[in-house]
Amino acid sequence: MQINPYLFIIPRTPDQIVWDYKNHKQFELNLEYSTRLAKLIENPETFNTSNIIDNQLFSAGILTTSTPDNIEWGWDALSKIFHIGTKNIPCDYAPLNINEWSKEYLDHCTNILSTPAPRARLSEYLACELIALPNPSCLPEGCLVNALIDRKTCRTFTGEAVPIEAVSALLYLSLGYLQERANDIDECVAEGLDDRRSSPSGGGLNACEGFLLVQHVIGLKPGLYAYHPREHALSFVKPLPSPSLGHILCGQHFISNLPVGLFITSRFDKLWWKYGHSRAYRMAYVEAGHISQTFQLVATSLGLKTWLTGALTDDQVEALLGLEDSPEQPLFFVGCGKSNGQAMCEEIKSLLSSRRQEQ
Ligand SMILES: Cc1cc2nc3c(=O)[nH]c(=O)nc-3n(C[C@H](O)[C@H](O)[C@H](O)COP(=O)(O)O)c2cc1C
Repeated sequence: MQINPYLFIIPRTPDQIVWDYKNHKQFELNLEYSTRLAKLIENPETFNTSNIIDNQLFSAGILTTSTPDNIEWGWDALSKIFHIGTKNIPCDYAPLNINEWSKEYLDHCTNILSTPAPRARLSEYLACELIALPNPSCLPEGCLVNALIDRKTCRTFTGEAVPIEAVSALLYLSLGYLQERANDIDECVAEGLDDRRSSPSGGGLNACEGFLLVQHVIGLKPGLYAYHPREHALSFVKPLPSPSLGHILCGQHFISNLPVGLFITSRFDKLWWKYGHSRAYRMAYVEAGHISQTFQLVATSLGLKTWLTGALTDDQVEALLGLEDSPEQPLFFVGCGKSNGQAMCEEIKSLLSSRRQEQ
């Protein structure tokens, strides 16, 4: 018998809350149960099949006979609990198609909007006097400003293929190690930490990486590819997912015909090599956010519309990318394609209008 290794315990007088963070379960143990659990933690071999509490702890999964998978986690327990505890969040119901998703999403928004909105931010209460700024009339001219203004999250894509040249530009400017900066590295920068991207990178480690999802690209067969930033090249990983992309992105089926996308991953092992504390885990997401925004700005400059999500069905995405139990973990997805520019899909628009007519 063994203790489930994915547990943490929170004191909540008079009980203890035992949280199985991998399986998203919580148990409230009174003194009798927590005392028995403490004894079993001290020596799991004292498990007694005729003890009712032992059997209940076993049925709850707090005790287990299976050998726990031994994933390497180089940081302290905080980031491990957070990372694993927020993976594969169970939903009451995962929509199977776009119509189900639209209904679920609209119902969710209606429920949220029927509850009071959060209060205004503290600094709004505290501000005594507002210092007006000049109109932003001296915006620098050029495509950066246009890209910033035109970037928009769209949820309707025409499915039109994207040329490989556009994909090459997207990858080079989002994740590639810039040739243009190769001779512009300060001599104090440690050798091995001198590759530079268009986005800043925590510790100069370039811990973020990317996997290209190709559904409809002229010049590339559909499938998943690993991007190699130093060589600016791709290697084939796997064919397209089955079931569809919408399934592995938590039922968001409206993106089924998105021609191209990027799964942004982070090499936790690189981060914890340089930074011992779990705080570095935060930086992984900040860096992924920079890369996602850069991808969106480049796509917008190329005349494409963008879509993004952090709602990944983690175990399926990891399997798709071949990253099960790996210290490289998927964090975010961003994609692009030709679009009519609609923020919402047709199915949600027609559901909205029929609900309005019913009112
Ligand atoms: C961290 C993050 C997560 C997001 N996740 C989703 C998502 O799961 N699905 C989706 O359709 N949009 C998602 N979005 C897009 C937002 O809904 C969108 O940015 C927001 O409505 C503002 O619209 P705009 O991007 O057109 O300015 C996400 C955006 C961010 C920054």
